[in-house]
Amino acid sequence: MKFFIDTASISEIREAASMGILDGVTTNPSLVAKEGKEFRALLKEICEIVNGDISAEVVSITADEMIKEGKDLASIHKNIVVKIPLIKEGLKAVKTLKAEGVRSNVTLCFSPNQALMAAKAGAYIISPFIGRLDDISHSGMDLIQQIVTIYKNYDFDTQVLVASVRHPMHVVEAAMIGADICTMPFKVIDQLIRHPLTDIGLEKFLSDWKKGQQSKK
Ligand code: G3P
Repeated sequence: MKFFIDTASISEIREAASMGILDGVTTNPSLVAKEGKEFRALLKEICEIVNGDISAEVVSITADEMIKEGKDLASIHKNIVVKIPLIKEGLKAVKTLKAEGVRSNVTLCFSPNQALMAAKAGAYIISPFIGRLDDISHSGMDLIQQIVTIYKNYDFDTQVLVASVRHPMHVVEAAMIGADICTMPFKVIDQLIRHPLTDIGLEKFLSDWKKGQQSKK
């Protein structure tokens, strides 16, 4: 499973990339707005740090405008994947962008039928938001299982990107199901590494080592 970081923060991207675990980056208009930086310049900076798919979202809602915006974003760097909302106009944009060689990540997916439509339109990536479904008492992970099964049944090559991840169990379950990509906030990446027995074990090794050194003096 590929690991993407869901942020527009350069310091978080640098830190995750330095760990050698990062395959790509997802951003959205809310995350970009938080950074207060010019969008194109920010995307260029991200593309210099990570050599993998970098999702950049359009903010238009008509197909023609999304296509124009998508082509402009894709011209920034070869690794840019254009994020398109899962609405009727979005599907039209996905179809045209694909024909013109621009890859799309279809976002704001909340149902298996929406995912099926996106794959048929030619999405490179589908982004089901699992945390936001959990928030309203629907199982986000059931949706991932449904999409993975449907895509397998019909050999779609659209990659399933698990988005709106809130905690480490989401990552374990996504990997058990066999999702292609999991994007997560920096906080969750950090949580994945930590284990109390690792910390206790390391502390003991280091204190035993110190004692051993002292007894030789
Ligand atoms: O980038 C899309 C998605 O991961 C957003 O997550 O936490 O705002 O639901 P969240």
